[in-house]
Amino acid sequence: MENQHQPLVRVSDITKKFGGFTALSNVSLDIAPGERVGLIGPNGSGKSTLVNCISGMLEIDGGDILLNNTNISQLAPHARVHAGIARSFQIPRPFKSMSVLENIKVVLTFSGNQRLDSNDLRSTQERAIAMVESVGLAPKMHAISASLTQVELRKLELARAMSANPKLLIADEALAGLSGAEVDEVLVLIMNMKSKGVSVLLIEHIMSAVMQFSERLVVLVAGNKIADGNPQDVINNPEVIRAYLGE
Ligand SMILES: Nc1ncnc2c1ncn2[C@@H]1O[C@H](COP(=O)(O)OP(=O)(O)O)[C@@H](O)[C@H]1O
Ligand SMILES: [Mg+2]
Repeated sequence: MENQHQPLVRVSDITKKFGGFTALSNVSLDIAPGERVGLIGPNGSGKSTLVNCISGMLEIDGGDILLNNTNISQLAPHARVHAGIARSFQIPRPFKSMSVLENIKVVLTFSGNQRLDSNDLRSTQERAIAMVESVGLAPKMHAISASLTQVELRKLELARAMSANPKLLIADEALAGLSGAEVDEVLVLIMNMKSKGVSVLLIEHIMSAVMQFSERLVVLVAGNKIADGNPQDVINNPEVIRAYLGE
């Protein structure tokens, strides 16, 4: 029986070095099933490095990364996608010459299908259409991806990540470069992932968005986790204010 207190993801004491530079020092982080976790920190504090270590783009120099109690530290990035970790908003980019719908079908065909509900009898085409509709891109279904606006591309990237049927979605700089109204639109889509049971790790600079999104807030400074907890408590934490918010 599944223990409801067991984390989906357990990052345990990981260290990452680039040559003589330590980008992450003994960082630990649990993410519960369905939990929305915000990750903040100054530029260069190690946020993307942490994401790269979780998604397998970088090998860690110490510690372990567990997914549902299974050690995935040695798995290649594509194997981690299959295991349930999807990262959006940085890589992979959509195929620019393909339509929105075709881009989704590619992901549905090549990733995540292991965990698809066997009661789901819809064709790939039908599932792709539903996915496109769920991010509000129905009017652009047959448009070539290269013709999309910035916010439409973000929605497509989100739909592509969700098409891999993830248990954890990692959104690094998900809202960067969007206007205020667009930030709200994409944020709502990301927040709705929770209703699908997906955990989300959001890395974002816009504090109002982070505070609206996060059930828990984690702060990295110079490769060290300095706070992890209730978002309101975390942003009132004197060490966080000194190290980051008050800078
Ligand atoms: N591939 C790399 N090789 C060398 N140094 C890197 C590499 N990736 C990141 N770094 C360094 O690690 C630190 C953390 O970077 P990063 O994780 O991108 O920070 P953040 O995402 O918080 O802005 C920075 O000092 C950065 O220059
Ligand atoms: Mg970064």
